[in-house]
Amino acid sequence: LSPPPVLIEAAELRAGVERLAAEVSADHPDGAVLVAVLKGSLLFLSDLVRALTVPVEVGFLALSSYAEGTGRVRLVMDLDIDLHDRPVVLVEDVVDTGLTLTWLLGVLRARGPASLRVCTLLDKSVRRIVPTQLDYVGFEVADEFVLGYGLDFAGRYRNLDHIVAGDVAALSADPDAHVQALYPG
Ligand code: IMP
Repeated sequence: LSPPPVLIEAAELRAGVERLAAEVSADHPDGAVLVAVLKGSLLFLSDLVRALTVPVEVGFLALSSYAEGTGRVRLVMDLDIDLHDRPVVLVEDVVDTGLTLTWLLGVLRARGPASLRVCTLLDKSVRRIVPTQLDYVGFEVADEFVLGYGLDFAGRYRNLDHIVAGDVAALSADPDAHVQALYPG
């Protein structure tokens, strides 16, 4: 199996995250609560918070995984921060159909934040089913299954410092299909 094509290099990711951090900082001069969705936003979040120039609090929540079926979203871990009257930025790894985000925005809005904005690293807008509000977008991606920089297939590949396009047929047959090409060991 040939190595999966690189879609976004580490240096491009760094530049994109810095641009997003500047935008988020400009809109939240007094700081914000960043709500990150585990586990996909892990790397993005850690780079984003370091690049912000305003104070932030960080809260995590976790949803049931993509593989369990689109649209069927379940909160498996909730925030430990009260969002009431706080400026909130939801940090997402990728918005695909938009079903997850739409559901999550409903949950968060019900908690009465002073403001609620969405910051996503990747926007796969060609796949959108539900129109969604995106305030900050790092990169537009085509209709491909992306891996790395937090994004996984069956738990693998999250720790790559760049983003590749996975071969879904090969991965479905063997989730470790790209391991040899991507990890020198
Ligand atoms: P949506 O509900 O279809 O917008 O899906 C959003 C979630 O699906 C993301 O937060 C990811 O966890 C997952 N997802 C969507 N596309 C990809 C991908 O290309 N690679 C890895 N995970 C993905």
